[in-house]
Amino acid sequence: MSMHGVQNEEKIHLSKEEQRRIRQRSLRLLGEIVKPVRARLFISLALVITSQALKVAGPWIIALVVDRGVPDARAGNFNTLYWIMAAYFLTAIFSGITIAFFMRFAARVNQDIMFGLRRRLFRHTQRLSIEFHETYTSGRVIARQTSDLDSIKELLDSGGNEMVSGILFMVFTAIALVTLDPSSFLIMLVSFIPLFFLTRWFQKNTRINYRKTRVASAKLIVHFVETMTGIRAVKAFRKEKRNEDSYQELVEDYRLVNAKVIQLFGIYDPGLIMIGNITVAFVLFWGGYRVLDHHQMQIGVLISCILYARSFYEPMENLAMFYNAYQSANSALEKISGVLEEEPTVAEAVNPTKISSHSGHLEFRDVEFSYSTGKVVLAKFNLDITAGQTVALVGTTGAGKSTMAKLISRFYDPTSGQVNLDGVNLRDIADEDLRQAVVMVTQEAYLFSGTVAENIALGKPHATREEIEAAAKAVGAHEFILSLPDGYETDVNKRGGRVSAGQRQLISFARAFIADPTVLILDEATSSLDIPSERLVQKGLQTLLAGRTAIIIAHRLSTVSIADRVIVMEHGKIIEDDAPAKLIAGTGKFAKMHKAWRESLV
Ligand SMILES: Nc1ncnc2c1ncn2[C@@H]1O[C@H](COP(=O)(O)OP(=O)(O)O)[C@@H](O)[C@H]1O
Ligand SMILES: [Mg+2]
Repeated sequence: MSMHGVQNEEKIHLSKEEQRRIRQRSLRLLGEIVKPVRARLFISLALVITSQALKVAGPWIIALVVDRGVPDARAGNFNTLYWIMAAYFLTAIFSGITIAFFMRFAARVNQDIMFGLRRRLFRHTQRLSIEFHETYTSGRVIARQTSDLDSIKELLDSGGNEMVSGILFMVFTAIALVTLDPSSFLIMLVSFIPLFFLTRWFQKNTRINYRKTRVASAKLIVHFVETMTGIRAVKAFRKEKRNEDSYQELVEDYRLVNAKVIQLFGIYDPGLIMIGNITVAFVLFWGGYRVLDHHQMQIGVLISCILYARSFYEPMENLAMFYNAYQSANSALEKISGVLEEEPTVAEAVNPTKISSHSGHLEFRDVEFSYSTGKVVLAKFNLDITAGQTVALVGTTGAGKSTMAKLISRFYDPTSGQVNLDGVNLRDIADEDLRQAVVMVTQEAYLFSGTVAENIALGKPHATREEIEAAAKAVGAHEFILSLPDGYETDVNKRGGRVSAGQRQLISFARAFIADPTVLILDEATSSLDIPSERLVQKGLQTLLAGRTAIIIAHRLSTVSIADRVIVMEHGKIIEDDAPAKLIAGTGKFAKMHKAWRESLV
């Protein structure tokens, strides 16, 4: 995650048209995620309405106690008082029960919404083509899954419930006040004026400062992650002191913006209390006057008006905060809907053709290729690789070798022309069949957390232990695996189970071997091996490559010696293509490369 990423995403200015499209896209997503929980959402709404109405009924009943119950009791009739007291108890109990139910219900609905969204985002991101993952940085993908989902969760968890209850509470209180005593309500209305300005000031400043805290914390995280992932380089260049200083500065920045946010609360909260108290004072003053002046107002009504005026502003802080939570959740939803809108550029055929023969005959017909950047990476070419051939693909860095490999494994489709496997266009082959037929091993040799055996079995789910060991033996990985603390059961991510880059490659060879593909591509797959290990793999390779079509991309020409055919590439073009012996005997590029390599060996 680079800092630029974080800032750019916030800064981009969009046209009105584009903004409208984004809003529609995120509303559509909102509709989709709410749809499955619609019924329960209505129930929780009914619950929250009931609970808030009951809560607001409290002060009203107190007015009844004072104005009806007590006078009747004085006159010797206690019935009214008993009835009103019973009503008070019931509303108190039911209001508690409905609030409890509402909270449980709403929490479950929110959990379901989050679960659905999380799963959908994961599945979708995973389903997207390599092109998406090569352009959308992993930092941004991570941000979508973490901080963006978190801000939506935050809104749902606290904000949502509190906002709905808060608004309902204020609305019911206002209704009660209008009905009981309109002039007290008028006083409340006047207090709205300072409240409005204070809240707007608070919102604006918290928004700005929350954005600053987000940026500051992102900077902190980026700095921390960069230091720790690059810890070897940090130590090697004795960069610790400098890192410490810059980290110190970032921590200080973070502290300052947080202090600023706290200060804002330090003004807003007392401000709310003050407006509330002044309003109460006016209600009391005006009400008291009317109570004294020929009983224009009953004393119970005055008490309940004061209670209403006092509690009216309670939800205000939450509401003001809700607006901010809403805004960050909204922008998160916009970004997430953007990812969900992406379509795999390499889509699976609707009616895939079954590949009948599995011999591994590859054909490039009038293939031309450029990445989305537009520059032609592979100029138009034709190429025929007979089934069972071992082809070495050599050439300078950036010549287009990996691109060629990506076309064969259909990570990308050619810009024009077609690639055929056993006479069938790759576009027409079902993804599952293609993944079975073509396997690519790269330098990355990624190991998932789990045991060595599990990592090998990835190539063939449900493989038996015998098959796994046979595969490891075939590529010369068996010995080193046995020397690991728990042998095949060693967890590759646990202490003591750490395997070297070379050993990782051997495991990924075993994984490819057990998958038994028709076409096998090794893209610089032996580059982390030392010469002795490479020799070992060399022997394994003979077994690995026998009976299938193989494309080997390698820097060390020793790997090339087992090839039937060498293709030399330069600047996206095939410049030589022949048997290795013939090329070496000639005067071309490969002959020169080979000569230089031979000389480097002595
Ligand atoms: N994902 C990508 N997007 C845009 N350009 C790319 C991408 N991958 C590779 N290229 C460009 O395509 C050319 C060929 O790259 P590549 O096939 O990786 O070369 P090689 O494997 O022979 O070193 C290079 O100029 C490289 O910059
Ligand atoms: Mg490459």
